[in-house]
Amino acid sequence: MPAIVVANPKGGAGKTTLTFVLAGELARSGASVAVIDADPNAIIAKWGAKRTEKGQALPFEIIASPKESELVKLMDRYTASHDFVLVDLEGTASRMTSRALARAHLALIPFNLSPIDAELAANAVALIHEEAEALGRPIAFRLVRSRDNAAIETKTAKRIVAAISDADLPLLSTGLVERAAYRDIFDFSATLEELEDGQTSGLAAARRNALEVARAVVEAVQMEMTR
Ligand SMILES: Nc1ncnc2c1ncn2[C@@H]1O[C@H](COP(=O)(O)OP(=O)(O)OP(=O)(O)O)[C@@H](O)[C@H]1O
Ligand SMILES: [Mg+2]
Repeated sequence: MPAIVVANPKGGAGKTTLTFVLAGELARSGASVAVIDADPNAIIAKWGAKRTEKGQALPFEIIASPKESELVKLMDRYTASHDFVLVDLEGTASRMTSRALARAHLALIPFNLSPIDAELAANAVALIHEEAEALGRPIAFRLVRSRDNAAIETKTAKRIVAAISDADLPLLSTGLVERAAYRDIFDFSATLEELEDGQTSGLAAARRNALEVARAVVEAVQMEMTR
């Protein structure tokens, strides 16, 4: 049912990776998942096309390159037929982004824990507030740490997390850790579940992290939908 939109006008913030990891985890847990790939790079759609060429099944449905004029209808159609709809957006503020946000049950804003990227994530939050104002109702969102350092919480990270808390901004309880496996799933046109230890490193840790992030997102969306 819920539509979860992954948005940050900053390019390379980790939107596609987060969308993809979430889709894989939700599908693995038995949910029916549709991914609307509205990122012009079409990484998830290409991943799906490669699998189809090789005769491999898709763990979730992929709707590639939606037109701006179709997006709302597609989101409505797939939220009616699937347990989760995920929308991967482009790395710029656009009308497509506005439309997706207007229909989102939850927006996720992945950001890297660097001062510059945190500043740009603040722009993404401002964009959500602007859209909410135009809509006349709030849009639920969570900031999501992306490419977190797996080994240590740096001083910079602590400072940024404290600033987010001081600003009363909602931060997802778990972030996506920096893991080679999150890049290699694209290279091997595999899911995390299908990747093998010989193909990547830190696979078990990536799987654990993906599960935790998916659980935190499900909890957040359930909480927002029962408000
Ligand atoms: N958790 C992670 N671990 C390892 N690599 C990551 C992680 N998150 C993102 N990356 C890498 O960072 C780069 C940018 O990530 P991604 O493509 O997901 O960002 P994006 O926000 O979708 O970018 P765009 O705005 O261009 O669509 C990619 O090379 C991706 O493989
Ligand atoms: Mg992307």
